[in-house]
Amino acid sequence: MAAAQLFFTYFAMILAIMLPAFGELSPDFYEEVCPLALPTIKLIVQQAIAFESRMGASLIRLHFHDCFVNGCDGSILLDDTPSLTGEKTAVPNNDSLRGFDVVDRIKSAVNLACLGNVVSCADILAVAARDSVVALGGSSYDVLLGRRDATTASRDAANANIPAPFLDLPDLIANFKSHGLGLEDLVVLSGAHTLGFSRCVVYRNRIYNETSTIDGDFAASLRAVCPPSGDDDSLSPLDESPASFDTAYYQDLVERKGLLHSDQQLFKGDGSLADELVQKYSENLDAFWAAFGVAMIKLGNMSPLTGSDGEIRENCRAVNSD
Ligand code: HEM
Ligand SMILES: *[C@@H]1O[C@H](CO)[C@@H](O)[C@H](O)[C@H]1NC(C)=O
Ligand SMILES: *[C@@H]1O[C@H](CO)[C@@H](O)[C@H](O)[C@H]1NC(C)=O
Repeated sequence: MAAAQLFFTYFAMILAIMLPAFGELSPDFYEEVCPLALPTIKLIVQQAIAFESRMGASLIRLHFHDCFVNGCDGSILLDDTPSLTGEKTAVPNNDSLRGFDVVDRIKSAVNLACLGNVVSCADILAVAARDSVVALGGSSYDVLLGRRDATTASRDAANANIPAPFLDLPDLIANFKSHGLGLEDLVVLSGAHTLGFSRCVVYRNRIYNETSTIDGDFAASLRAVCPPSGDDDSLSPLDESPASFDTAYYQDLVERKGLLHSDQQLFKGDGSLADELVQKYSENLDAFWAAFGVAMIKLGNMSPLTGSDGEIRENCRAVNSD
């Protein structure tokens, strides 16, 4: 007995010593070093969304596209230099990602509030995503913190790892699986499309060619703003209420009013598990909110740099020069 107890005490001590070394993220990472960090991020996110509600959607998407390319390491924010081709011009990102200027404003404000450079750009993206969800009517969740910023970025990796909107369900599942995420995560995280907009060029093919899987009136209304050619940047909302973190996205899918091919793939009316999940979330706001927070924490945990890996970038657009 005593030997077993001793063993477990010893084991617990070893664990306690090793966990920080393994770089676990924690919700109170900035509590001592800069208690103003999180309130400052929230304030600027709220201001940006008050000015333009779509900015909340754009900030959430930045975090997603950051995490799906070599983990949540702020790599998405690096500008191109003569020696580095970053992720901003990758196919899914070019002319599409927004919010970089808001991230710059957050970073400057946080560096002021913290009297120094202590909050990583990767953490700013994770917190700004959560604050956007809340500002647009969703429920809150505790973001785990302590990520550090990458000193590299990769356009090729962005092209290879971010799922394309013309993928079929098996390929969407395979893509998420390659990131350690399951079907449930796919359905729940796609619920972020309850916010924001897509360009005509992204969904054009669907409204002219996929007439059997799309509601007729809905397709006709989209064809009115998205012609067979031209007007590539003409925007349509991803669901019926693009500034409200509600269940309309799932309700639209059940009614065959998904905007993107990849959205409608989650509900095909074949009674599959994906269908069941979409149906469930279309009817249960609380279940969606709870599942979304859990899935976002999972997304945010993807291969962060921690401890002494990477750096805390002074300017989110560039690697530190020292
Ligand atoms: C499942 C695979 C996904 C695909 C294929 C996909 C694809 C897309 C596309 C094509 C757009 C429109 C881009 C444009 O018009 O240039 C978009 C917008 C958006 N995506 Fe996704 N997405 C996926 C998952 C996600 C996830 C997991 C999140 C966040 C957790 C997310 C958040 C958003 C948001 C918020 C917008 C609107 C952005 C804005 O209005 O600025 N998406 N997505
Ligand atoms: C990105 O978009 C710009 C502006 O539309 C375009 O000039 C450029 O060629 C694009 N870059 C890539 C790599 O596709
Ligand atoms: C419809 O699909 C065909 C074949 O994939 C494609 O060539 C054509 O451009 C599509 N039409 C539109 C308007 O997207």
